Amino acid sequence: MRVSAAKNAVLPILAATLLTGDECRIRDIPEIQDVLTMHRLIELLGAEIRREEEEWVLRTPAVLTSEASYDLVRMMRASILVMGPLLARTGQAVAGLPGGCAIGVRPIDLHLKGFAALGAEISLSHGRVQAVANGRLRGAHIYLDYPSVTATENILMAAVLAEGTTTIENAAEEPEVVDLANFLNSMGARVSGAGTRLVRVEGVKELHGSSYTPIPDRIEAGTFLVAAAATGGWVALENVVPDHLAAVIAKLREAGVAVETEGDRVVAEGPARPSATNVKTLPYPGFPTDMQAPFMALLTIAQGTSVITETVFENRFRHVEELKRMGARIDIEGPSAIVHGVERLTGAPVTASDLRAGAALVVAGLVAEGETEIAGVHHIDRGYKDLVERLRSLGANIERVSGVPSLQFEE
Ligand code: EPZ
Repeated sequence: MRVSAAKNAVLPILAATLLTGDECRIRDIPEIQDVLTMHRLIELLGAEIRREEEEWVLRTPAVLTSEASYDLVRMMRASILVMGPLLARTGQAVAGLPGGCAIGVRPIDLHLKGFAALGAEISLSHGRVQAVANGRLRGAHIYLDYPSVTATENILMAAVLAEGTTTIENAAEEPEVVDLANFLNSMGARVSGAGTRLVRVEGVKELHGSSYTPIPDRIEAGTFLVAAAATGGWVALENVVPDHLAAVIAKLREAGVAVETEGDRVVAEGPARPSATNVKTLPYPGFPTDMQAPFMALLTIAQGTSVITETVFENRFRHVEELKRMGARIDIEGPSAIVHGVERLTGAPVTASDLRAGAALVVAGLVAEGETEIAGVHHIDRGYKDLVERLRSLGANIERVSGVPSLQFEE
C-alpha cells in the first residue's frame, strides 16, 4: 500500500508558499482535515489555490490580511505556522493564541522568542498575539530551550527574508523540518544545517516559485506497520523513507516483528504474539511521540511487561483509560505507563481524544475480541486519509458507521 505525503511536512510547506508572489506547485497533497484547514487559512490570507489532479497550484500575489483567524487556530494549532511567513513578507503577523489541546499546554513562547530576536515587537491582548517588525527583520542567533518542531519551522520561515544571517541553535532535527528547508531552498532561500541541531540561514531579498513533492508520512507508515504487527498480519508499504522510521523499526523488531526494508519499500510481519519492550519518546531521531499511542496498543497484548515513557508532551496518555476499557492492564506512574501484556483485548465502545490516541484505538479494535465502536473519529480524519478503506484493503473488518461519527470493528 502506498503511503501519503507527510501531513506535518505539507502544513509548513503550504504556509511557506505565502513567502512569494510567484506560483508554487505542491504534489501528492493528502486531502485530510488538517490540510484542508490550512488550505482555507492561507486562502483567507490571500493565496489563490487551484487543485489539479496530482498537485495544488498556489499563488499569493498579495497578502490580504496578516491575521490568522482564532477559529482556525483553535481548530488546528499548526495554523500558527503562518506567522513566520506573514512576518517575513508583510512585516507583521497576528494570530489567535492557540489554547491547549488534549495532549498538553502547547505554548508558543519559543516561536515568539525567535520572532523577537529577529526584531519583531511581540504583544498579546484579548487572546491574540501580534508580531510587528519595523522595517525588515534582521538576522540573529537564536537558542531554542527545547528543539520544538514548529518553532524551528516558524523561525526558519521568518528568517529566510531577513537582513543578514540567522543561526538557530538546538533546532529540531525532524525530517519534516529538513523537508521545509529543502522546499525553501528550492524557492531560492539559503538554509544550511537543517536536520542537525544548528541551522544557518542567509537572508535573501525575495523568493521565487517552486514545484515540490513533500516527503512521505513516517507516522502514517508507522501506524500501518504497528497495525499489521498487532494482528499478527503482514503489510507491504511503498513510498517510505526507512531512515525516518529507524527508531520505530528497531522497536518493532524488539517486539518480535519481522521488518524488511528495500529502497522505499518496507514489509512487516507480526508474530503470533508480540514481546514486551520499553519505549521512551524523544525528539528526532529518538522514538517519535506521535507513535507512542499506537505502539502502546501493540504492547497491551505483548508477552511480558513494557514501560513506555513520554518525555515530549505532559499529557499524552489519554488513550490509556480507553485501552483499559478494552481489558488492557496499564498503570501510569508519572511520565511512564507500565503495560502488563494480556492475552486478549475485548471490544468495547471507546472515544478518541486526539489524532494519535484515535489511531491507537483503531489498532486495539483490530485485535480485540468482538466489536469495538470508536467515537470521536473526526480526530482520526485529521491525519489519516481514507483510513477505513485502506485498512479494509489490508483485510481488516472495519466500517464507518454512517451518520454516527464513529468507526465499528468486528474481531
Ligand atoms: C509538532 O508539534 C507536530 N505537529 C506534532 O504532531 C508532534 O507531536 C510534535 O511536533 C513533536 O514531534 C506538527 O508538526 C504540525 P513541539 P509541535 O513544539 O511543533 C514544548 C500530530 O499528531 N514547546 O515540538 O507543536 C511543547 O509544550 C502532531 O500530528 C514549548 O515549550 O511540537 C512540547 O512539550 C501532534 N514552547 C514540546 O515543546 C514552544 O514554543 C514539543 O512541542 C513550543 C513547544
